[in-house]
Amino acid sequence: MANYVFVIAIIIVALSAIQSTSITFTERDLETEESLKNLFEKWVAHHGLEKDLDNKAERFNIFKDNVKYIHEFNKQGHSYHLGLNQFGAMTNEEFRNMYAGGKIDRQRITRSRAIGGRYMYEKVEDDISITCFDWRQKGAVNPIKDQDQCDCGGTFSAVASVESMLFIRNVTEKLLSLSEQELVDCGFFTHGCSGASVNDSFVDIILKGLTTESDYPYTGKQGTCKSFIPVANISGVEFVTPNNRTAFTIAVHNQPISVAIDASSLSFQLYNGGIFDDESCGFNTTHAVTVVGYCNSIGGDNYWIVRNSWGTSWGEGGYIRIKSDVRYASGLCGILTDPSYPIPTNIPSPPTSTYHDSFSVE
Ligand SMILES: *[C@@H]1O[C@H](CO)[C@@H](O)[C@H](O)[C@H]1NC(C)=O
Ligand SMILES: *[C@@H]1O[C@H](CO)[C@@H](O)[C@H](O)[C@H]1NC(C)=O
Ligand SMILES: *[C@@H]1O[C@H](CO)[C@@H](O)[C@H](O)[C@H]1NC(C)=O
Ligand SMILES: *[C@@H]1O[C@H](CO)[C@@H](O)[C@H](O)[C@H]1NC(C)=O
Ligand SMILES: *[C@@H]1O[C@H](CO)[C@@H](O)[C@H](O)[C@H]1NC(C)=O
Repeated sequence: MANYVFVIAIIIVALSAIQSTSITFTERDLETEESLKNLFEKWVAHHGLEKDLDNKAERFNIFKDNVKYIHEFNKQGHSYHLGLNQFGAMTNEEFRNMYAGGKIDRQRITRSRAIGGRYMYEKVEDDISITCFDWRQKGAVNPIKDQDQCDCGGTFSAVASVESMLFIRNVTEKLLSLSEQELVDCGFFTHGCSGASVNDSFVDIILKGLTTESDYPYTGKQGTCKSFIPVANISGVEFVTPNNRTAFTIAVHNQPISVAIDASSLSFQLYNGGIFDDESCGFNTTHAVTVVGYCNSIGGDNYWIVRNSWGTSWGEGGYIRIKSDVRYASGLCGILTDPSYPIPTNIPSPPTSTYHDSFSVE
């Protein structure tokens, strides 16, 4: 029995090790059709996709295009690099249909329109001269989750913001991992796996509360609603003043913030690390993520630390750093257009400290 448990533990450790990174390759792997084929097989095994690929020959052709694109791109030396993550054999169109707004009119569902409403940190005098701030270092952010093939990024973003807020405000003693599946199955306003917005997810959480991840585990498909006991509640949602880098920085310094972004580009699909600065993404937001930190420095790197829900083999262990010192107020990929956050049932007065503007806001 003990041996059996031991073997299972090893398998689990091995599996998580396999999937935690993207695979690397060199120029040699691209030299011949056969070396490319070997790389492809290695990639398939690495991501455990043997069963998922129905048309292997077609996948191989897409894979080859992506590998060559990645290789050429990385040779140019950008501030970020691309890699062979789990989306390595998908065309950008397929990727957009599945994960970034191809299926429906995202404009309608990801925009919550930050009008009216309260912004709790509006009058906060906050010290954001601190160069880098990261809620992960405070133990306030759960390990990365994976929405898999369910288009419900808004739900993952909202739940992540709730988990962190409850812990930061001392509502929960520990950092809880809460259930996205509950909203996918039971939400009134969320749309299962067909594009749930952050706002709809927050409204459902206000109405129903959330149970734990382990009591209502994730399946990645919309199923029938099962009964559950809510262990966490929020009383409302507020909107950060949109398109204002200072206001947004102060908000993130107080709690992780849910945002909508345009994640539809090929560079976003294959992002593998570094500071993302691809200005080709637009302001028409297609996905939702959670900002858990930032770095501000004069003459150095300025970026948002962004938690995604595509597992750990995408990006920097599931995160992306997005350039924050850009020319337009809406932020890169529209990241500042629609920021919102949950508030606890007993709303505490926001903390105050001295505010030093360490960077210039355009
Ligand atoms: C948030 O969603 C609810 C439920 O769909 C809707 O009634 C409300 O108007 C939305 N709020 C905003 C600001 O979009
Ligand atoms: C939460 O508790 C910690 C430790 O007791 C305390 O330092 C912190 O100020 C509390 N936070 C809030 C928002 O009450
Ligand atoms: C959350 O709200 C529900 C419904 O109002 C209530 O039954 C539950 O006890 C609350 N949970 C907590 C932890 O406050
Ligand atoms: C941006 O937000 C800050 C902090 O809330 C505020 O002081 C400033 O006036 C805002 N700027 C604009 C252009 O609204
Ligand atoms: C954003 O959407 C509008 C209206 O659908 C469209 O006209 C515009 O070209 C889009 N912009 C980008 C950058 O995708």
